[in-house]
Order: sequence, then C-alpha cells, then structure tokens
Amino acid sequence: MSVIASETASPRQILEFLLAAGVDLPLGDEPVNRLAPPPVPAAPVREATETKPQIVAAPALAGPEEAAANAREIAKAALDLEALRAALDAFDGCALKKTASRLVFADGNPKARIMIIGEAPGRDEDEIGRPFVGRAGQLLDKMLAAIGLDRTSVYIANTVPWRPPGNRTPTPQEIAVCMPFILRQIELAAPDILVTMGAPSSQTLLNQKDGILRLRGRWLSFTVGGRAIPAIPMLHPAYLLRSPAQKNLAWRDLRALKAKLEALGPRQA
Ligand code: URA
Repeated sequence: MSVIASETASPRQILEFLLAAGVDLPLGDEPVNRLAPPPVPAAPVREATETKPQIVAAPALAGPEEAAANAREIAKAALDLEALRAALDAFDGCALKKTASRLVFADGNPKARIMIIGEAPGRDEDEIGRPFVGRAGQLLDKMLAAIGLDRTSVYIANTVPWRPPGNRTPTPQEIAVCMPFILRQIELAAPDILVTMGAPSSQTLLNQKDGILRLRGRWLSFTVGGRAIPAIPMLHPAYLLRSPAQKNLAWRDLRALKAKLEALGPRQA
C-alpha cells in the first residue's frame, strides 16, 4: 500500500494511524481468522456522544418554526458560499450564536470533490473560527492523509456553525434552525461525495434513525437541489479518540471512500 504524505500529517503520523487501525500487513481488507469460534452477536454499543451531559438550551430568539422559516428564506437567497457565510453571520435565529465566540463556517477547499460534515464546533474551533482544528481535527488530518488526501482535497463544515456551550450535543431544535444553511452550503459547494461524521450529522442529514455503528460504511444518497450525492456516514474522530479500537472500522470506511472517488472518475458537477 502506498502512503502519500500531506501538508498536515507526516508519514510517521499516517503510519501511526494505520497501525492503530490494525493495518500491519499488505494482504487484504478483510482479515480471516480460521480458528475463531462462530461470532456471538455483540451487545448494542451506545455512541459516546449520547452520554454527553445535556444542558438545557436557551430559548431561540424567535419561535423555532419562525426561525427555521426565516433561515430557509435567507439561505435560499444566498447565491454563493461567501454570501451564505455573510448571511449566517448576520442571522440571529439560533440561540447558540449568543454563547459562542464566533461563527465557524468552513475549512478546506470549497471546490473539493469531498465534503465532510461534522456535528458542531468545540472549544478550539470556537477560538479559531475553523472546523476540526482541535484533537479530533488532528486525527481527521491523519485519517485523510492515510488515503492521500488533505484539506486542499476536502471541504469541511458542521451541521451547526456555533459552539454549543460546554461542547454538549446540539438540541434537535438548534439543528432544525441551522439546517437550511448547511443544506444550502452543500448545494452551493456541490461535492461529488458527502461524508457525515458521527451520529447527529449522519442521522439528521441522511434522515436515518440507526446508530452510527450501524450506519457507518453504508453508501446512502443525499439529494439537494434535485441532485443526488453519494453519502457515507463515518465514525467521528472524537469518538475514535475515546475508542481507538474502532479505528479499524474507520480505516475500512476510508478505503471505501477512496475507492468511490476513483470509481466516480473526474469531478461530476
Ligand atoms: N467536532 C465536530 O463535529 N466539528 C468540529 O468542527 C470539531 C469537532
């Protein structure tokens, strides 16, 4: 297997990720243990984000339905990503804006073929104003580098662009109010492939109820502006930091992403 160095992760860091993902021999994707007893069904695993402390959200500034309708109109009127960023920055319909330091709109290359969507900014992202710059972001860089990608070959955003206080999971109401913006952001970026990181982003954007451990690695379809985009849910790098044994699953999904990119050929849109 060839490993391509990137600007954000050194070959040594990539190798460390691959070793943690269980890659030790260039044989095949699926190891075969011929001595293993038949598999016993695993107990369902709850994703760690589900256990985050829930802090009651401050009420939205307008009623949630009114705010979401307002967001839809504003987002639709934005004709490019810069206009969308400015519109979002001026939008007061989500209470998270009041407690966050700044808007975290996007990072990477808006013309990239892959768009990655996380959950919400954390403390580091809130300080710097770019998504995935903390520890989870550093792991994301290593994961991308393991398949020859870096931030010039992906465009990154979140379902919610303001940090929820205490890094709690955004409430369904906060996600609903911000949803028209991320939908418009995907439509304007028009990627060939969408990667949803973690349960909240995968479930809300792809309209799924299953947990992330069932959803991950499954190719689904995301339609926006009349265009269907292949979408793959993956384990969130923050989850992988807490559960490093699951990196082998992340590696499998990264390989699937790379294969899809190659199978699609040159940029679609
Ligand atoms: N986790 C996310 O989902 N998004 C970020 O931007 C950072 C951490």
